[in-house]
Amino acid sequence: MSINLIILAAGQGSRMNSDRPKVLHEIGGAPLLVHAMKSGASLEPEKTVVVAGVGAELVEAAALEWNDEITTVRQDEQNGTGHAVLCAKDAMAGAEGDALVLYGDTPFISPETLAAMQAARTYADVVVLGFDVADPTARYGRLVTTGEALDKIVEFKDATETERAIPLCNSGVICADSATLFSLLDDVTNDNASGEYYLTDIVGLARDRGLSAAVVKCDEAETLGINTRMELANAEAAFQSRARAALQDDGVTLVAPETVHLAHDTVIGRDSLIEQNVVFGPGVSIENGVRIRAFSHLEGCHVSSGATVGPFARLRPGAELAEDTRVGNFVEIKNAQVAKGAKVNHLTYIGDADIGARSNIGAGTITCNYDGYFKHRTVIGEDVFVGSNTMLVAPITVGDNAMTGSGSVVTEDIPADTLALGRAKQTNKTGLAKRLKDKLRAAKAAVKKDLKKDK
Ligand code: UD1
Ligand code: CA
Repeated sequence: MSINLIILAAGQGSRMNSDRPKVLHEIGGAPLLVHAMKSGASLEPEKTVVVAGVGAELVEAAALEWNDEITTVRQDEQNGTGHAVLCAKDAMAGAEGDALVLYGDTPFISPETLAAMQAARTYADVVVLGFDVADPTARYGRLVTTGEALDKIVEFKDATETERAIPLCNSGVICADSATLFSLLDDVTNDNASGEYYLTDIVGLARDRGLSAAVVKCDEAETLGINTRMELANAEAAFQSRARAALQDDGVTLVAPETVHLAHDTVIGRDSLIEQNVVFGPGVSIENGVRIRAFSHLEGCHVSSGATVGPFARLRPGAELAEDTRVGNFVEIKNAQVAKGAKVNHLTYIGDADIGARSNIGAGTITCNYDGYFKHRTVIGEDVFVGSNTMLVAPITVGDNAMTGSGSVVTEDIPADTLALGRAKQTNKTGLAKRLKDKLRAAKAAVKKDLKKDK
């Protein structure tokens, strides 16, 4: 049975107090919407439709950036969750099989839970994801059941006191045959406390037609929706602790786990060790047996086995470190390949560059890659020794086995096996330092004497 996703992401999210659409606020460096899309993608859907409304252009761009094969549709006025799903009707025309509705602001539904819902469709026409609520005053829709059967969903606003006392709540995730879902939605009205078209009404309507409805339960933590900045921060904390635990299970040592910040897609290999206060932005993959030392910041980079990074290193997008490389303190690397065994140990900027195997980049080296208009490349061969404080003015090529003298400003290519010196020649003035100091000392003493006289 094939499955299709409809992801609702048109709502305002006014309690975020933000110019940014709610579903684009991030957890682990990815928008909430992308988290929802990722969990839905675990079902390998035929088709995914994202319903955008408030901030639609931004929402659509973010959705398509993550997966350009999805379809986006607009809900220009937010008339309720049922109306939002109906906006996907045309886009879903011809999509065979089931439709699963997810919310763009509910990032943590697990693949296992979605699989359980799909499985429940073998015995129920409509499957709703429910959870037992910890706070009985929470304003979720309540699931009214008779034994195993789900009779209807009542919104909190419309519920009686008895119904509000039901602990079983609606997560919002619903699955049904696509044609059945849209046919039921055609019968939904907005005759309720909010004047909205409720998706939740399809359960009662389905039962009226003699169809069956069932509940699959999950943990409340999975259905956590984000409405406020506080909830966003709590969700981030929950995400971080799960992501850290997953890495630890996979054989990664986190010396002080609570100080390591991970992204939604961070990959770290077995027997790697991450020291205190390391931040991973999106797009980082670390192989086995790597050590990332304290206070490093990494994003969009790859680090191979046996490498050591930091402390206080910054790897920016496009940094590729090969096996057994060393990147030390106060080093920034961007869009650059560092080949096997090369070392960049102190106070250095490497941008738009290739560094050959076993080369050693001295302290304070800078690849001057930007002329204010264009970026240029620095290519350094194998076994090169770049002296401390060398400015490599790109575009520039340094041949294998070459060297640069400390403090050189290198503006011309250096052939292989060549030492380049590009700095002012030193001259020594014998005795001049002493004469200068005597003169200055005498001048200072005269000033002090004058001051005493004035008193
Ligand atoms: C909804 C459910 C409620 C459930 C709760 C779980 C309905 C009627 N109610 O209520 O039973 O307990 O979620 O969190 O479905 N959206 C649109 N267009 C709209 C309205 C909403 O795209 O016109 C999107 C929102 O962006 C959001 C999601 O649908 O992602 C849920 O909308 P929201 O207004 O938060 O629903 P609740 O009132 O919380
Ligand atoms: Ca909500």
